[in-house]
Amino acid sequence: MNFPRPVPRHPHPIVNLPPPDIAPTIDLRDRVIVVTGATGGLGSAVAKALAARGATVVLHGRTLARIESVYDQIVAAGGPEPVILPLDFARAGGDDFANVSAALESQFQRLDGLVHTAAMLGSLGPMEHQSFDAWLALLRVNVAAPMGMTRAVIPLLARAPDAAVVFTLDDRGVAPRAYWGGYGVTKAAVAALARELADEWENRPNLRVDAVVPGPIRSPMRGRTHPGEDRSRLPAPEALAPLYVHLLRGRAKADSGALIDAGAWLSGSPASSPLVA
Ligand SMILES: NC(=O)c1ccc[n+]([C@@H]2O[C@H](COP(=O)([O-])OP(=O)(O)OC[C@H]3O[C@@H](n4cnc5c(N)ncnc54)[C@H](OP(=O)(O)O)[C@@H]3O)[C@@H](O)[C@H]2O)c1
Repeated sequence: MNFPRPVPRHPHPIVNLPPPDIAPTIDLRDRVIVVTGATGGLGSAVAKALAARGATVVLHGRTLARIESVYDQIVAAGGPEPVILPLDFARAGGDDFANVSAALESQFQRLDGLVHTAAMLGSLGPMEHQSFDAWLALLRVNVAAPMGMTRAVIPLLARAPDAAVVFTLDDRGVAPRAYWGGYGVTKAAVAALARELADEWENRPNLRVDAVVPGPIRSPMRGRTHPGEDRSRLPAPEALAPLYVHLLRGRAKADSGALIDAGAWLSGSPASSPLVA
């Protein structure tokens, strides 16, 4: 079977990003966007920010009650009625992702965006204290599920005039360190997935890929990785939401393919480098 080969690329320019106080006037009406981990610190902030700008958000989470809480907040704020998508990624198989895609197709016929924020931390510590089965769960949730979800919805994304996929990475995947175990390894793997996809889609003008490294944020996960830290000094997840909103709006293909350091973006420093060298 012949696959389309990327043509020799021009070096990607550094992508220009808007300032953190980007005007809240971006209009996402008529855009349908899936947010995985929409019950988490970052995912719920992103989902609510997208809905506040008119997007119909498909709220993925592991537990129905937590998804319903985000749903209620969006509806109470006057946002478009979201769609609820409960799916435990630790147990999900290919058929589950195919079913998600079929349901989205029957309701919306296309998809304009997919944001990956769902992730499992697992236990941190020396390798000899880590369990093989726990690593398998991390691989399923943090790597196989983003691949399975993305793969399943590619035909729907391809029908949109300009669709965006945004991956959420971690410093510990970009620069692994001791004791980060399966979390660090799986975040490195999902970074590779983002780079592969960005390269594969080089010649697909309506499909964009970007990846965000959030840096420390005041979320439940950070509380588990740094329990003694004064988290009041960290940016709230809401501070990063405008960056995701920007990446999910209609944009030129040439403005995509970026690996974005959100901490640098928040401080006004250069924040973007090419995903594919
Ligand atoms: N927090 C930080 O400082 C930080 C730093 C760098 C990178 N990140 C990255 O940012 C993203 C968001 O992190 P966060 O801090 O917002 O984490 P969080 O609050 O713990 O949220 C994680 C989300 O993933 C979902 N999830 C976990 N296991 C799942 C499973 N088996 N099936 C389906 N969904 C599952 C959680 O669902 P439940 O609500 O049911 O638990 C939740 O919605 C992650 O990709 C993380 O790696 C975070």
